[in-house]
Amino acid sequence: MGGTMDETVKVLLIGNGAREHVLAKTFMRAPEKVALYGVMAAKNPGIGELCEESFITPLDDLASIVAFAKRSGVDFAVIGPEKPLADGIVDALAEEGIPSVGPTRELAQLESSKGFTRSLMERYGVPGLPRFMILKTEENLQKFIDGLEQIVVKPDGLTGGKGVQVQGDHFQTKEEGLAYAKKLIEQDGKVVIEEKLVGEEFSLMTLTDGRTIRDCPLVQDHKRAFVMDKGPNTGGMGSYSEADHSLPFLTAADVRKARRINEKMVEVLYRETGKYFKGVLYGGFIATKDDVKLIEYNVRFGDPEAMNVLPLLRTSLVSVCRAIIDGTLRDLEVEFDHRATVCKYIVPEGYPEHPVKGETVTIGPHDADLYFASVEKKDGHLVMLGSRALAFVGVGATLEEAERIAQASVEGVKGKVFFRQDIGTQKLIDRRIAHMQELRGE
Ligand code: AMP
Ligand code: GLY
Repeated sequence: MGGTMDETVKVLLIGNGAREHVLAKTFMRAPEKVALYGVMAAKNPGIGELCEESFITPLDDLASIVAFAKRSGVDFAVIGPEKPLADGIVDALAEEGIPSVGPTRELAQLESSKGFTRSLMERYGVPGLPRFMILKTEENLQKFIDGLEQIVVKPDGLTGGKGVQVQGDHFQTKEEGLAYAKKLIEQDGKVVIEEKLVGEEFSLMTLTDGRTIRDCPLVQDHKRAFVMDKGPNTGGMGSYSEADHSLPFLTAADVRKARRINEKMVEVLYRETGKYFKGVLYGGFIATKDDVKLIEYNVRFGDPEAMNVLPLLRTSLVSVCRAIIDGTLRDLEVEFDHRATVCKYIVPEGYPEHPVKGETVTIGPHDADLYFASVEKKDGHLVMLGSRALAFVGVGATLEEAERIAQASVEGVKGKVFFRQDIGTQKLIDRRIAHMQELRGE
């Protein structure tokens, strides 16, 4: 791909959440001159402001997205959410000669089919594999479940994080799990059963051109709605990262293992398909008492995790995207600032199950970075649409400083909202450390 410093780089940015808002802001601070062409299901006021042109359309309308990309003469596309990737937006753009930072439909199966990922790991001996079975009929179901202490029952496909059921959490007895597994076989023709892993979860996002990998700082997300990890699962209430790019409850060996698993997966994807995975390989890991295991793969930036790592990126995001597309990541050092970050999401009251909608939210004075998510601007006010509304990100020399900045900023918000005040606090982190020590028998 050509392009010199004085040429404008035209980027198609698909998605309308806080993850895409931080991508947009990161493009804007690249040394290259960037013109953004935003494709959004609903107009995100933050992204809209940064775009040369915004195109509002359902994100599964691939034909219209491709037509907009062609009309705009974009150099390349960056895709935020998983659904368009699973639907094959990268393949559709490629047919028109537009390259993407994001995997083709075939490679996106790593996220869109849990069975695909588990079988691949098994066949190529990728470490970090829990005991699992993919079942198409009820035969062997009972026997497999009987051999496990506790189980997790998963639909094969994308469910927006709502389909996975964990014993002790979503159901109590194995019989209940069995009933859910049978329902999924009936409904989808298959089910994935796994042993339940106990430990601390973390995210490792790896940038790759399919050959070379560049790891982002590690991040821990908080899925539960309420403080102390209580309440229902959400898209993620907030997240933090440390200045040393590791996490306080992990050993150096844990970090090495997670990195090795991502590295191996990139290699295996090429061996299996003969195609290079281009984009973000996001491993959702769990540190258990004796090993690091892979819970799931995503094929995109995490939301909120993107808000932790992208503000730290020192290398131009344009250079990173070009290296991924051109297959020249080997020649590019990707650097992240050694600073700590804390992201706290403001969400509407009742989220995630019965969120208030159409309510105004008012932002106070804030030192944290602000990213817009499920909000729109109406008559000069910000109105919440029902999902996670605003993300505030504190960046500091220490976690304590980053948390203080994020916390002060979320406290200034007025409206029918709530947030998790405990994300990034020493108290919560001490609990995580104690949990791992207890599991490891230390
Ligand atoms: P997934 O959609 O695969 O990310 O699963 C959603 C959530 O379910 C994960 O973030 C975990 O908290 C939990 N989960 C998935 N698989 C397992 C497992 N094998 N053991 C324990 N928890 C799991
Ligand atoms: N942080 C969860 C996700 O992006 O899927």
